[in-house]
Amino acid sequence: MKKIEIEELIINPFTKIGSEWMLITAGNKERGFNTMTASWGHLGDIWGSKTGKPSAIIYIRPQRFTKEFVDEEEYFTLSFFPSKYKKALSYLGAHSGRDENKIQNSGLNILFEDDYCYFKESKLVLVCRKLYHSSIVEDGFVDKSIIDKNYPKKDFHEMYIGEIMEIYTNDSDESL
Ligand SMILES: Cc1cc2nc3c(=O)[nH]c(=O)nc-3n(C[C@H](O)[C@H](O)[C@H](O)COP(=O)(O)O)c2cc1C
Repeated sequence: MKKIEIEELIINPFTKIGSEWMLITAGNKERGFNTMTASWGHLGDIWGSKTGKPSAIIYIRPQRFTKEFVDEEEYFTLSFFPSKYKKALSYLGAHSGRDENKIQNSGLNILFEDDYCYFKESKLVLVCRKLYHSSIVEDGFVDKSIIDKNYPKKDFHEMYIGEIMEIYTNDSDESL
């Protein structure tokens, strides 16, 4: 994969995350790792003047196995894929790494760096370093109807803000 600068990245963040989906992945070969599909998240800027880097926000429910790795690790990655891998993303979003070797079963191949991992088949990878982690809290909802619709079990998502340290692309399959 090729490393690019943030200025070179031209994507629609709404369709990229909301329609194409992404894999949130954390861990490494020695300490263990896991991944999960996500379609909720944001790309933008907060504290950029301090870090000089843009950031990504992800939302993870407490029961996800992937959360244990995101909590433990300093880094997480967001991997985006060509459309032909949507079935694999559906699989990784419907099975838990607690129950099976779901990465192997999805047919995707994981690549390891020292502090993070991502997927060989991805066309875009954002490497994020955790800056902030907090739970969505019930009191914070201005529109309370969101609670009934999304949280009948009150299992509120936890949000993680990560500064985007590296961007890798592999646009041989289709445009980003
Ligand atoms: C399209 C799609 C989007 C999803 N988005 C999220 C999300 O943003 N946050 C979340 O906590 N779970 C989300 N999920 C659910 C997790 O991917 C799913 O529960 C997964 O099996 C968790 O795997 P794990 O237990 O191995 O971490 C999504 C699932 C799908 C199919």
